[in-house]
Parts: sequence; C-alpha cells; structure tokens
Amino acid sequence: MNPKSFWNDIAENYIEFRGDMPLSWWLNGYLTVMQKFSEGTSMEEVKSRNILDFGCGDGLFGLLLASRYNFDVSGIDISEEMIRLAKKNNPAGYYSVFDGQRIEFRSNSFNAVMANWVFPNIDTEQKMFTVLSEIYRVLDDNGTFAFSTFQDKYIGAETSYKRIGEEGKTYSSGDHIKVKLFSQESDTITLNCYYWSEDYFVKILEDVGFQSIEIRKPVYDDITSGKIRELRQEKINIKDDMLPDEPITTSVFIVHKKPI
Ligand SMILES: C[S@@+](CC[C@H](N)C(=O)[O-])C[C@H]1O[C@@H](n2cnc3c(N)ncnc32)[C@H](O)[C@@H]1O
Repeated sequence: MNPKSFWNDIAENYIEFRGDMPLSWWLNGYLTVMQKFSEGTSMEEVKSRNILDFGCGDGLFGLLLASRYNFDVSGIDISEEMIRLAKKNNPAGYYSVFDGQRIEFRSNSFNAVMANWVFPNIDTEQKMFTVLSEIYRVLDDNGTFAFSTFQDKYIGAETSYKRIGEEGKTYSSGDHIKVKLFSQESDTITLNCYYWSEDYFVKILEDVGFQSIEIRKPVYDDITSGKIRELRQEKINIKDDMLPDEPITTSVFIVHKKPI
C-alpha cells in the first residue's frame, strides 16, 4: 500500500492512539524543534515567524507552536484525511493537501519548515529529492529547516513505547522497515516505514543545497525536564509513558540555506 492510502486509512486511529502528546513523543523530536524555532533575539522576532509544517498530520504540534509563540503556521500533508482532521483541530489555520510534487507556496515564503516523522514514510530516493528540493525552495534564505527521524543506533531496538525494525537485521537506505508504537491504553500500531540512514540524509541534503547540517540527538537531562515542567504548568497534558532512563531513539536534523 502506498504511503498516501496507508495514512488515509489509519489517520483517525493514529490520532486517537496518540491522544494528547505523551512524554515519549515530545522527546522524540518535537521539543528540540520547538526550542530551535523559538530561539531569537527578541520576542517580536520570534512572534513574527512564519512556519510550514510539512506532513502536518492532524496539526496538533503546529497548533501548540501557534498558541505558545504566536507563530503563523501553515500545514500540508499528502493525506486528505489528515488535512481534514487538521482543519477540524485548527479552523483558523491554513491546511492543504500536498500533491507529492510541488509545494503550493512561493519561493522563500517561510522563516522555518518542520517535518516531524514524515521522511520515514517516503518510499523512493526520487520522492525524497523532490520533497527536499521543494522545501529548500519555499524556505527563506535565512531560514531554518528541522526534521525528526530514527536514530541509526536504535534500529532494531525496543523501548516501552516503540520498536524500530527487527533486532539483528541490517537495513540499507530505502528498505522497508516496520515500526511498532506501544501505548499504555491502546493496542499496538504498526507503521509501514522506510529506512534512510544518517549518512544518506547528509548526502541528499547537501545535494539539494542545504548547508550547516547539524544533527541533534535529544537526551532527557535537567534542561529537558525543566522544559517539560514549563509545558505542564501551561496546562499542556503530557503523560509519563516512558520508563526511567529509557533512550530517546530520535535524531533531529537542523539545516539552513546559508552557512551559519
Ligand atoms: C507519523 S505522521 C506525523 C504527523 C505530524 N508531522 C506529527 O508529527 O504529528 C506522518 C505524516 O506524514 C504524512 N506523509 C507521508 N508521506 C508524505 C509525503 N510524501 N508528503 C507529505 N506528507 C506525507 C502522512 O500522511 C502523515 O500525516
């Protein structure tokens, strides 16, 4: 089944399964992206940011960014079903279906683009090149692009909330990889994903023209727990679904159009 039909079919289940974002999800990239996008010299600068949520799903994270920082967030997704849910969640936002080829916005339109857990759904190198080139085009020359994906080190590993691929199996870029998500309340969800290595991403990002490639590997330290506490004080409901000392199995790539 192609990724579009897959996501159209499971959209409602997936969103219900996730519920309010559990701790494991925040730490799996979202918090790092939030911290990066909210850096700035002044609150005015931060507030005027215009962000594209590529592969926005139901738009929950974009909505949180919009309400926390007043960012202007637009979302696109290949799944019509996800776009329907995003519009329902955030009637004030702009959401539209991505045709897989051309992002409908003009060049240099966004101060930042994020793509949270979208690239593991891209099934060919050609599609990967097309979407990255389009993201490059719509990003402002001084803009930042951040995306989250699996960390190579944890392929084959199982945590209380996730299993990425099979233990002991070697995956090459482009290989199909099954990802199982576990939650305390619901049945497991299995996602049909594709493996792309860290080296692969570095090479294709450079081929597209991105510069200053930084790869962050989130950890649950004092700073992170402080940020989570802040979010909870803002009444954002974050469930403690991880076991103490569990690894965070994510890499967050942060890249730019110009060297920084
Ligand atoms: C794991 S979900 C993540 C959704 C959202 N970014 C989030 O973090 O909550 C993956 C999303 O990527 C979308 N997607 C898959 N392939 C895509 C593509 N080629 N272009 C844009 N979106 C895509 C799916 O429809 C789905 O909404």
